[in-house]
Amino acid sequence: MSSTSYTPTLPLSEGSMTGEQFEDALLAIEKDVCSHGDTVHYAERPKFFENCEGSYLYDYNETPYLDLQMWYSAVNLGYANQRVNNALKQQIDKLPQLACQYLHKEKVELASMIVDSAKSAFGEKGRVHFNVGGSQAVEDALKLVRKHTRKQHMLAYEGGYHGRTLGASAITSSYRYREPFGEFGDRAEFVPFPYCFRCPYDKKPDSCGMHCVKQFERKFEHEYTGTWNPKTGKAEFGAFFVESIQGTGGYVIPPKEYFPEIARICKERGILLVDDEIQMGFFRTGKLWAMENFGVKPDIMVFGKALTNGLNPLSGLWAKEELISPDKFGPGSTHSTFSSNSLGTATGLEVMKIFKEGNYEETVPEKGAYFLNILKSLQKKHKEIGDVDGLGLALRMEMCEADGYTPSRALADRMFQRGLEGNLNVNGKKMGLVLDIGGYYKNVVTLAPSLEITVEEMDLAHDLLDQLITECKQN
Ligand SMILES: Cc1ncc(COP(=O)(O)O)c(C=O)c1O
Repeated sequence: MSSTSYTPTLPLSEGSMTGEQFEDALLAIEKDVCSHGDTVHYAERPKFFENCEGSYLYDYNETPYLDLQMWYSAVNLGYANQRVNNALKQQIDKLPQLACQYLHKEKVELASMIVDSAKSAFGEKGRVHFNVGGSQAVEDALKLVRKHTRKQHMLAYEGGYHGRTLGASAITSSYRYREPFGEFGDRAEFVPFPYCFRCPYDKKPDSCGMHCVKQFERKFEHEYTGTWNPKTGKAEFGAFFVESIQGTGGYVIPPKEYFPEIARICKERGILLVDDEIQMGFFRTGKLWAMENFGVKPDIMVFGKALTNGLNPLSGLWAKEELISPDKFGPGSTHSTFSSNSLGTATGLEVMKIFKEGNYEETVPEKGAYFLNILKSLQKKHKEIGDVDGLGLALRMEMCEADGYTPSRALADRMFQRGLEGNLNVNGKKMGLVLDIGGYYKNVVTLAPSLEITVEEMDLAHDLLDQLITECKQN
């Protein structure tokens, strides 16, 4: 079929159709002309949205959907945030594009703010290197580690997610993402994460004596574990890539004492610690950088998503001076055409200013505590909620069978789908709910509401979730 055969249906006229008809017509074309290789077609019926504001997305029927996952935590300051939008508009009128081999003011200012933030969080002078997406920043971090250690083997976590480019896939736990693409010689070794609700060692947190830390340390006890050479005092791994709170893995929050121990072991064994803040950074957990909650100093940190409030692609890494000083990571070590694009740096700079001027270290934990109480009250009512937990506004709710433990992916899937149908009823008004499902068994509702969410919106979230769970557990 030639591409011209689509012309009779384009342009579609929204005005002459209902919202559903317009979506159906668009979807019919999309199915045929867009690759299905992204994540759109995970959904039974992919969803269109037309507008957004604050905590809400709106479809073609103008139905509001309360978004409790904010683009996987890319839109921390709410949709269509005026200050961030204006920064972008002003930059469009001033310096909308510039080849990345030239400098512009916003790049330097943004890098300075991130360097300052890392200095006050981790007590180390460092430097920033920008790129476009999270996976690309992870690739840059891999290059930096390889350059410094000359090692290609990395440690990473079971349940960890670092992206889907080839290098990032190699350190992401899901074999599903790698299997169709041949061999990954640089595949990471995956270590169990301290997921206490479902302890991989079948222990209980109050009596485990940090068994997982002991198991990790065992890797370097003698040469016969296969990863440590006592004669040279070198481990086989260049770095340990960690998310201090697992994102895609289901917003799993480790015990406070865990990461300091891991950092100690890595330091003793000459393994760099790379902190992936792509999903949990930018105050999601009540601290600018999630790792600050655990008092640990990474060697390298990667960030993306909420840096521009999801407005224009920009990501980056911060690394300690000794790893990234110009003599160690010289000109041309890595480069991408759009790596420090001026629209991204201008919006990123505005986001960092908003964070600096705001009071997020107080408001996020306060709101997080309120939201966690909502989840606890839902858990009391619905025995299918096996576990709830949260740090700041990174919250989790595990959907289970009626025993409160056996994971129920089916229930979580139904909630996800039903929420997107936009047929929930609030005082006679139709509404939808945007959720994200993650976790090892795909049964965890991972909640990342806007950091600007109001008490009224959180109360609404309670009512919508209650309605959704009540409906979905019946069929
Ligand atoms: C922790 C983490 N690292 C890396 C990535 C990859 O980022 P991107 O999708 O921008 O490539 C993600 C994306 O979800 C993530 O959550």
